[in-house]
Amino acid sequence: TGMVTLDPGYTNTGSTTSKITYIDGDAGILRYRGYPIDQLAQQSTFIETAYLLIYGELPSASDLESFTSRISRHTLLHEDLKRFFDGFPRDAHPMPVLSSSVSALSTFYQDSLDPFNPEQVELSTIRLLAKLPTLAAYAYRKSIGQPLLYPDNSLGLVENFLRMSFGFPAEPYVVDPKLARALDQLLILHADHEQNCSTSTVRLVGSAHANMFVSVAAGINALYGPLHGGANEAVLQMLSSIRSEGGDISSFVKRVKNKEPGVKLMGFGHRVYKNYDPRAALVKATADEILASLGGDDELLDLAKQLEEIALSDEYFIERKLYPNVDFYTGLIYKAMGFPTKMFTVLFAIGRLPGWIAQWREMINDPMTKIGRPRQVYTGYPERAYTPAADR
Ligand code: CMC
Repeated sequence: TGMVTLDPGYTNTGSTTSKITYIDGDAGILRYRGYPIDQLAQQSTFIETAYLLIYGELPSASDLESFTSRISRHTLLHEDLKRFFDGFPRDAHPMPVLSSSVSALSTFYQDSLDPFNPEQVELSTIRLLAKLPTLAAYAYRKSIGQPLLYPDNSLGLVENFLRMSFGFPAEPYVVDPKLARALDQLLILHADHEQNCSTSTVRLVGSAHANMFVSVAAGINALYGPLHGGANEAVLQMLSSIRSEGGDISSFVKRVKNKEPGVKLMGFGHRVYKNYDPRAALVKATADEILASLGGDDELLDLAKQLEEIALSDEYFIERKLYPNVDFYTGLIYKAMGFPTKMFTVLFAIGRLPGWIAQWREMINDPMTKIGRPRQVYTGYPERAYTPAADR
């Protein structure tokens, strides 16, 4: 009680201590458990990075092997859960389909819901890591009316996901190693980002001692928003609409600077990075490589590069320290890989999952954790007397 400090958007409020991810927004530094993001992106794998985030250390070769094989034994979905996908409209957005089905995991796997039972926490960790790619691929396949493929557990996590997304039942699916590696790298870049909107949501829901499945489902819903993970989809829509209106970039930038309602340079700006987003630098390099090898939409890539160049030399963006963020170039890569625009944020969710899990586990094990419960400053009416309807 007493004085309440107002901090809309929590721009200056620390909600927790954490040992997981370090960001220096002015210097453009991002590290997971002390390891620089560029080293992980270039030398690690998504599954190894997931282990690092969740358990705090890089795994030994045998730890990595058992982690990988435990995950591959849990990729199947309960057959009844598969039927959920029949109930959603064909043109549904896959993000709410994903969050609904992740919530539903808590109804099927009731033996791993207790937040204070370490074995159950471990089991829900593995189940989520294993099943999210399956759920994501099924959300996509349903939307295009194609059969749901059972996971092939001889494949790695990313290859399996690509096969379930793009393969056919009676045909062997040949994974393009360049594509698989590029996707793996993008997942590493998305794997954690300290107390962002979705991660804070996961922690807040978990602080009420809600189970890991439903906490992660809440995080997926937060990520769906266009100011957060939904930005990767919004960037592609923005680029496509600039192109279809004749490709006039400077008039678009003018509209952004005039702050026309709803017009922002999507994929630009960040609450913490006031210097180039280190993930964006890595993604931009990947965009060049992948579009060259897979043959993506070069016209949109050119448009994106021109837009970046114009924005970075414009007073409006310089003054406000607005730089491209991770979402600016990823959509172009996902598109070149064959994913429809609606799936972009789903890919972000697959990447962010290890971070959500690591943060949820840190929260539940932290003796300092209390239920998240911000205060407010009330600005409504003082007390007044009720009047019967006839007198109003
Ligand atoms: N285009 C135009 N103006 C912008 C943009 C943008 N993308 N981002 C910020 N500004 C302006 C904003 O209008 C404000 O101007 P003024 O000082 O005149 O009022 C100033 O820059 C500061 O912005 P802010 O809104 O106070 O910054 P914030 O920290 O609250 O918001 C943000 C951060 C990421 C929500 C915002 O930059 C934004 O909406 N960007 C576009 C959406 C986007 O790309 N989101 C992805 C973020 S990165 C990965 C992720 O989380 O998914």
